[in-house]
Amino acid sequence: MAKPKKRYVCQACGSVSARWQGQCPDCAEWNTMVEDVPATVFSQKHDLSSGGRRVEFEPLDAPGEVLKRRATGLAELDRALGGGLVPGSAILMGGDPGIGKSTLLLQAAASIAKAGGQTVYISGEEAAGQVRLRASRLGLADAPIKLAAATSVRDILTTLKSMEAPAFLVIDSIQTMHSDTIEGAPGTVSQVRGCAFELIRYAKEHGCALVLVGHVTKDGSIAGPRVLEHMVDVVMSFEGERSHQYRILRAIKNRFGAVDEIGVFAMAGAGLEEVANPSLLFLSGRETPLAGSAVFPALEGTRPVLIEIQALIVRLQSGATPRRAVVGWDSGRLAMLLAVLESRCGLSFSTAEVYLNVAGGYRLSDPAADLAVAAALVSALADTPIKSGAVCFGEVSLAGEIRPVAHAGLRLRESAKLGFRIGYGPRETADSKSDSPDLNYRGLSKLANLVDQVMGRT
Ligand code: TYD
Ligand code: MG
Repeated sequence: MAKPKKRYVCQACGSVSARWQGQCPDCAEWNTMVEDVPATVFSQKHDLSSGGRRVEFEPLDAPGEVLKRRATGLAELDRALGGGLVPGSAILMGGDPGIGKSTLLLQAAASIAKAGGQTVYISGEEAAGQVRLRASRLGLADAPIKLAAATSVRDILTTLKSMEAPAFLVIDSIQTMHSDTIEGAPGTVSQVRGCAFELIRYAKEHGCALVLVGHVTKDGSIAGPRVLEHMVDVVMSFEGERSHQYRILRAIKNRFGAVDEIGVFAMAGAGLEEVANPSLLFLSGRETPLAGSAVFPALEGTRPVLIEIQALIVRLQSGATPRRAVVGWDSGRLAMLLAVLESRCGLSFSTAEVYLNVAGGYRLSDPAADLAVAAALVSALADTPIKSGAVCFGEVSLAGEIRPVAHAGLRLRESAKLGFRIGYGPRETADSKSDSPDLNYRGLSKLANLVDQVMGRT
């Protein structure tokens, strides 16, 4: 038999390579390539279809089995989690440094502890005194949280096994944990994975909800192996511009609920405050309409959020290449929309610099934003404000048509509730205007119709 060829498999991403390399060519992790014997060699030696134990099949519906959830006391956190913490679940919380992960988890832990749940907070980054100081600043010093500064997973598990299992366990952060059964410094791929595995096993066995705080790398993914995201039940990301007050908690993966719900918080002097009506936050609260500004009723999960989109057009005299800068939206989508406005509506942006900004540090991903962005651009180009109290939504096709989008009724109702009186949107949704009698809905079929409306041609 021919000698099996050696191959090397990255332990972080599973990429296979013929020779050993210090850095994985696919996921760029260091020291993760491990020699591996090809699987075919095993299957020639052993027949796997016999000699095992029979696995029992189970029906999908087990009567009397319900998913129990524990409220954290922070309604916005519960909402993002899909209705509260599931006992025995593992949650990975990612976010930029200083965004407020530790603050959020301390507030949640305090609220659970005050409601009578056993709560353990392990800080690997800050000394116990620092956490205590923060708690007293937040006015939570009286919460019966079991607080410890520790980094050894063996010490942590030994302690946890000697006491009543907590309902809520916070590990801040998984990158500082280390296990003495694994080689390498804390934060390396194998350490992070090994420590997470042990902690998650403890949580599953004892029915405790575990939160692992994870650092985020420069490109925005959670540092450490991607497998960490596969190991946990829920991956949450805490986002926001540090210079802005608003923080958005988003579920990226959730085995127990939807991933499109968000929680909105504002960082204030006394910690994170919940924002029940985010629309009021993201609108700039101006009375007189300005050119280049349009309001978009976005949808985050099941919740409508009104967001202001601002555009600025600067005409260039010289032949220099004009800049296009976008904050909070996709720059490729902006280029597409500019092309559609040029070729289908006869507007010229080619000699102008275009700046687009989504107010409040918000990041839009809803395709229905096209029409509002177009309205802001046209209004900026014409230097004419959009009619006061108008909202715009709809997807724009390359042919310059306005395509229908999901939940038009919900968007219009929220807009009417906040005092908007005119709605521009796709024609096909015109019947949903009966939902909000206070709002005058104007269904449009072509982008050119919107241009006429904004420029006052009709
Ligand atoms: P922190 O929770 O330490 O962030 P992370 O754990 O994600 O790194 O939050 C730190 C920031 O939050 C810090 O820059 C100051 C700010 N902050 C407030 O504005 N108000 C407060 O009451 C607290 C506790 C923090
Ligand atoms: Mg922290």
